[in-house]
Amino acid sequence: MLDLFENQNQQNDENNGSHKPIISEEELSDADVLVELKKIKEELKDQVVVLGHHYQQDDVISFADIIGDSLQLAREAANLDKPFIIFCGVHFMAETTDMLTKAHQKVILPDLRAGCSMADMAKRSEIDKAWAFMQKSTKEKIIPVTYINCAATLKAFVGDNDGSICTSSNAEKIIKWALDQGEKLLFFPDQHLGRNTCFKMGIPLSDMVVYNPNMLNGGLTAAQIDKSKVILWYGFCSVHQGFTLDQVHATKKKDPTMTVIVHPECNFEVTQAADDNGSTSYIIEKIAKSPAGSKFAVGTEINLVNRLAQEFLDKTIVSLSPYQCLCTTMYRVRPRWLLASFRAIKDNKPINIITVPEDIARSSIKALNRMLDIK
Ligand code: 13P
Ligand code: SF4
Repeated sequence: MLDLFENQNQQNDENNGSHKPIISEEELSDADVLVELKKIKEELKDQVVVLGHHYQQDDVISFADIIGDSLQLAREAANLDKPFIIFCGVHFMAETTDMLTKAHQKVILPDLRAGCSMADMAKRSEIDKAWAFMQKSTKEKIIPVTYINCAATLKAFVGDNDGSICTSSNAEKIIKWALDQGEKLLFFPDQHLGRNTCFKMGIPLSDMVVYNPNMLNGGLTAAQIDKSKVILWYGFCSVHQGFTLDQVHATKKKDPTMTVIVHPECNFEVTQAADDNGSTSYIIEKIAKSPAGSKFAVGTEINLVNRLAQEFLDKTIVSLSPYQCLCTTMYRVRPRWLLASFRAIKDNKPINIITVPEDIARSSIKALNRMLDIK
C-alpha cells in the first residue's frame, strides 16, 4: 500500500486535495449533495464525463455516463473527448484511463484512498526479483501477463518484456496468445484468475506452480520453475476469497434450481463447483438474458448483486454469501467526494488528478495496446 499512498500524498499536495471529506455533513446533508450533484453535472456536461465500475454504490452509479467492467471502461477511455474524466472506481482503473486518454485530458479519482488490495500484492521490485530468478531457472521463454488490477509500473514491466495485460473478460484469449509466443506463462497478481482460466483451457493443475513473493525464491526451486508451464503469483482478492465451497453446497442443498454464478477471482474449488463464472459484465448479461423466474446465487461484490436484484424483480437474485462481500475501497467513492471533484473543476482548481509518469506510461501503453489489439 505504501507506493500507492506515497503517490497519492504527492498528488494531494500537488492538487491541494485532502483525505478528509472536503464537503462535511454539517455543510451539506446527503440528500442535498445529490441535489447539487445533479445541478453541477448538468452545468459541466460539456467538460466532464463520469465513468463508473459496476461495483460502485447506487448513488454514485446514478451519476455515471458510462458504466462497465474493466475491459469496457478501458476501451471507452480511448474514445473520450471531454477534458475531464471523473473515474468512479479504484486507483488502477483511473491510472489505466489516464494512459489511454489524450495528453490534455485529466483523469480524476474522487477519493484517492480507493485502491485495490489485490493490486497491492505485487510490487515492481518483487516482480523484478522474481523475473531474474525465473530467467536463471529455465531456458524456455516466459511470457508475462498481468491482470489489469495492478499498478502502472507492473503494466510497464509486461510492456517491456513482450507481455500483455488482461482483464477477467479476455483472460482466456490473452493467455492463449501468450502461450503461442513462448513456452511458459507468468501470471500476476491474481492466482485465482490465472489458475481458473488456465485450467479451463486444459492446462492441468500439476503444470502450475505458485510464486510467493514473501518466501525466498518465491518458495520454489529452479527445477520447479523449469518443469512448470504456468507460474502464478500469490495474490488474491480479499472480497472474492470470502466465497466458499460450503456456501455453494449449502445453496444447492437448499434449492437445487438455483444457478450459482461467480467471478473468476473466486478460488478454484468455488469456481469449479459453481454452475458458471465470468466477469462482472458476463454475470450481468447472463442474468439479463435469463427467463423470468430464474434464480441466481451470485459470487461477487454486494453492490452489484443488490442492484441486479432490484433491477430484475421477476427473478430471484441473492448473494452466494450470507456475509456482506463489500469492496471497501470501491465503496470509498461517495457522492460527496464526487461533488467535491465537480466543484473543484468548476473553480478551475481540479483535485485528485491521476497522472502516470511518462516513461512508465510509454511502456504500459505497449502492453495495453497489445491487449486491445489481440483478437
Ligand atoms: P471486472 O473486470 O470483471 O469488472 O472485474 C474488476 C474487479 O476488480 C473485480 O474484482
Ligand atoms: Fe480489487 Fe477485489 Fe475490490 Fe476488485 S473487488 S477492486 S479485485 S479488492
